[in-house]
Amino acid sequence: MVLSMERWNGKVAVVTGASAGIGAAIAEQLVDHGLKVVGLARRLDRLKELEEKFSGKKGSFHGLKADISNTDEIVSTFKTIEEKYGPIHILVNNAGIVQKTTIMDGDVEKWKKVFDVNVIGLCCATKEAIGSMRRHNVDGHIVHMNSVAGHRIPPSTITNVYPASKHAVTALTESLRHEFSEVGSRIKITSISPGLTETEIFEVSGLATSFTDDLPILKTEDIADATIYALSTPPHVQVHEVTLKPVGAGP
Ligand SMILES: NC(=O)c1ccc[n+]([C@@H]2O[C@H](COP(=O)([O-])OP(=O)(O)OC[C@H]3O[C@@H](n4cnc5c(N)ncnc54)[C@H](OP(=O)(O)O)[C@@H]3O)[C@@H](O)[C@H]2O)c1
Repeated sequence: MVLSMERWNGKVAVVTGASAGIGAAIAEQLVDHGLKVVGLARRLDRLKELEEKFSGKKGSFHGLKADISNTDEIVSTFKTIEEKYGPIHILVNNAGIVQKTTIMDGDVEKWKKVFDVNVIGLCCATKEAIGSMRRHNVDGHIVHMNSVAGHRIPPSTITNVYPASKHAVTALTESLRHEFSEVGSRIKITSISPGLTETEIFEVSGLATSFTDDLPILKTEDIADATIYALSTPPHVQVHEVTLKPVGAGP
């Protein structure tokens, strides 16, 4: 199998949650491969910093402020992307959060927030990207940033409804695959499921980060490399799922 990113050169890729962590690393590698990358997040200042950092590379990076949990904002942002940059070829549904709460006596609003970003936002962005791909006859690629918690429940009380949201991502990946197959679509859908990765995710939700100190951990570039691998496959090959864990992590 010949792996190549050549067919995506100059095409539009949207990365949600591009202002930090895994999303920023994926955006950088896509820019390196010559794509026109539109990065979405709420912190526009962070996106502007990345625009500067990535300038002079083969492709380009354009930051747009968008809250992925706001349906109207997603619809208008994707409309702007298509009008300003062209048809969407790749969508990386990366934005995701964890919240400090519990299931036993937790905060319902926090549960909803997790599902609004990790599940409903992912579905809305997917719908808009597929609309753009189909209007322009693009055999594009959707990548869902899942988690090992989307397949197995980690023995940790800090994650509360997060594994449930990521199990939904696993189900949504396969349900969308059925929909594509039913209409004969050549659009690909891949789920990437990382184990513990060094990012801000626990810090931004107010969770103690010290628990990760002695644990084996992945780097954001590892997840970006796996994403590029899935995108590099020839049009007739589809990577369904990539699970990555740091060496030394448990089963
Ligand atoms: N780190 C890990 O150990 C790990 C393991 C497995 C899977 N994952 C998954 O990897 C993905 C990326 O996480 P990360 O670890 O890179 O976390 P991170 O460093 O906290 O980055 C999260 C990104 O999502 C964006 N985001 C959060 N809420 C948003 C919203 N409402 N609208 C738009 N953007 C939003 C953030 O941008 P703004 O705050 O600027 O909006 C940020 O760019 C998530 O889906 C996560 O579940 C992470």
